This record gives sequence, structure tokens and C-alpha cells, in this order.
Amino acid sequence: MFVTSPINGAGAGPVRRIGVIVDTQQDLQEQDPQEIVPAWTAQEGAEGAVALFEDTFGQKADGVWASPGRVNIIGEHTDYNGGLCLPIALPHRTYVALRRRDDAEVRLVSSFDGEVLRWDGALPDVHPGGVRGWVGYTAGIAWALAGAGHQISGFDAALVSCVPTAAGLSSSAAVECAVGLALDDVNGLGLGATDAGRAALVDLAVHTENDLVGAPTGGLDQAASLRTAEGRALLLDCQDGSVRQVPFDLAAEDLELLVIDTRAKHSHATGGYGQRRATCEAAAKTLGVGTLREITDLDGALARLADDEPVRRVRHVVTEIQRVRDFVALVEAGRLLDVGPLMNASHDSLRDDYEVTCPELDVAVDAARSAGAIGARMTGGGFGGCAIALVDAEKRDDVAAAAVAAFAEHGFAAPRLYAAIPSAAGSRVN
Ligand code: GLA
Repeated sequence: MFVTSPINGAGAGPVRRIGVIVDTQQDLQEQDPQEIVPAWTAQEGAEGAVALFEDTFGQKADGVWASPGRVNIIGEHTDYNGGLCLPIALPHRTYVALRRRDDAEVRLVSSFDGEVLRWDGALPDVHPGGVRGWVGYTAGIAWALAGAGHQISGFDAALVSCVPTAAGLSSSAAVECAVGLALDDVNGLGLGATDAGRAALVDLAVHTENDLVGAPTGGLDQAASLRTAEGRALLLDCQDGSVRQVPFDLAAEDLELLVIDTRAKHSHATGGYGQRRATCEAAAKTLGVGTLREITDLDGALARLADDEPVRRVRHVVTEIQRVRDFVALVEAGRLLDVGPLMNASHDSLRDDYEVTCPELDVAVDAARSAGAIGARMTGGGFGGCAIALVDAEKRDDVAAAAVAAFAEHGFAAPRLYAAIPSAAGSRVN
């Protein structure tokens, strides 16, 4: 799968670059842009994490835990508005080999994006302002668990991942949740064993992301990583945290969900995402509701908002929540083939009213639709990242080829392609 080659004279500083990874799958993808990049098997991921752990720390890990990235089928920018979302877990996972320590030290090594990075510190160093980036996501969950009153020991951990990073597929949630499950297990907390415990871990991962890393995200990604089930989509109600497992058997209908990674830049910690959230919260205040979910009379609400911008943002959120209800009703009535117009309407609303798409996402979606996709839309936070296309299995290659050709025509870098197969939530794998 990959080989590590060490770097001599690694740079100084709290995070040290200690090697590079040669990813053979990635090389393959560079050669053929229409190839679907496969996820690692659990065995490949576990072996990769164990090898990195043993190479780095010279000891055996207590175990290996893994947690997935996600695509959201529909229900975008609704989570922080108390709305509904419908994610599935991807087969692409972050794997962590971890060993509990008897002291408060924390030693981390990761191999994301081809770089092997090392961080050594201790639990007291892990606080807002003390750690950043991948260390924040990794060690931050220990900070959040301890802050919630759990007894947490120091630990050594090695992370590897086949969740594409900065692609809007929740690679950071996969890290938080994999490490959260590992720390839960080795400290004997028992949270991972029940859905209620997992919901608590979700909240702690969101707390880490919001208050330690500084990304003002909602709970969609972490719930998708910890509360989904194989072959199911997760109907997540962000008002009360309840979930419903919705059968989502694409293969039974000869359907596939193609993920088109535009590879356009995407960042949540700054910029547009936070502005959208702030606009929604201000609009809720103006309308005298706790969240936009509580709006029952959309036209009346829009009439009370003076400015064009909040009108369009609120219209997206309220209509998107209704699209999730309609989508689930169709799926539960066995009418998966009829969901296309809802996916298309979701994208158009995100493009025109919420303004979080970008040229690459719009080109990917238009190309997929023109090549015969049942429906296509952006997924995740937007401003880059991925589009998804629901396709007849036999049309998958045509749709993929159309997206690749459209990108070449527009002078964009070739997209990367993945298959979204509804997979299981995070768990111990070894
Ligand atoms: C990102 C955030 C989620 C959610 C989506 C948009 O993925 O992390 O909380 O808001 O964007 O639906």
C-alpha cells in the first residue's frame, strides 16, 4: 500500500517532519484520472497504523481503532441551524494504533498527505492555543474528555488515513472520532458501546473542533463517523440529537454514488463558513426563534427579514430541511430512483441562495447531470471539496469520464474519483 522513507535532519519545532510516504495508489491515480481510488481494507489500514507505531515507538500498541469520513446525501448547512441531515459513512477511514501510558505524556505520529509528522508533549500542553492543526484534532479529544470529568492517561498514537484531506469528506472528524474511540476504550469509559455514549463522544468532538481548533462547525461530520450503520443513511435531527437509520441499499437498485473530488481549496476555520453561520444565527434572533429549524411560516419569516442576504440564507436552510424530509419519505417508500430532483434542487439552492459552491463544483455537477446522473450536488461545507452523483451503475464510467473531460475543458486540475458505499461507524479493528 505504501512505504515510508525517513528524512534525515528533520526540522526543529513542536511538530517535526520525520519522513515521507510514497503512496502507490496515489501514483496510480495520477496516471489515470478516471480510475476510482479505492479505500484501504481494514487489514491494510490496521497494518499501516501498527507499522508506523512500532517503527516510531519501538513497542506494541494496545490496539487499532478506525473511524470513517462521510458524504452527506442531503441536508447541507442545516446542522448548526437545528435541522436535519442525511449522511453516510464512507469506507475510507482513519486508523489509529494507540497505547495507553501511565504518565501524562502524549507522543503522536501521523502520515497524512505523504508526510510523516511527529509531536511530543503532555496532556497539560493540550488546550486552546497550546496545540494546532492535526495535533489539535488528535490530542484535543483527550482535552475534551478530561474536561467532561473523565480520567484520561497519556498515550502514544500513530495515525494513518485514506480519507482524502481538505476535500470536504470529514477527514478531521475521522481523526477526532478514531482517537476518541481509542481513548474511550483504553481508559475504560464505555462510551463507544452505546448510541447514547457515542452521541456524547460526538458532542466532545464538536467541542474540540469549535473551542480548541477554532472551526465553528456543527455536528454532522462527527455523528456520521460514530452513529452510522452499514447499508444505511443516518437521518440526524440536530435539534434533539436523535437519529434514525434509513435503509440505503444502492446496490439492490443497481445504483452507485460517485464522489467527484474537485481538489479545489476548502477551509472551514476561516471565512465563508463562519459568516454563513453568523448570518443564520442573527436571522434567528431577528425572527425570535432559537434556531431556523423552528420557522413554520417561511414566507412570513422572509417578509420580516429586511436584507436580501439573510433572506436567501434562511430560504436555503428552511427549504433544505424540507428536502431532507421529502428525500427520506421517498427512500422509505422504495422510490430511490425518484430522489434526483431533490438532490439537484439542493445544489441549486446552495449555489444561488447559500452561495457556497464554486466553479469547480458547479462544473462537476453540470457534467454529471448532462451525462445522465439521476441527481448531483455538492456535499459538505462547500467552497471547494466534493460533488456527489447518484448514477445507474452502468452509467458510472460515462459520468466519471464526463466530469474528467469537463475539468480538462475548463483548465481545472483533474478531479479525483471515489465510490461512496454506505459503511459502518467507527470501531475497534484490531
Ligand atoms: C461541514 C461542517 C458540518 C456541516 C457541513 C455543511 O462539513 O463540518 O458541520 O455544517 O459543513 O452541511
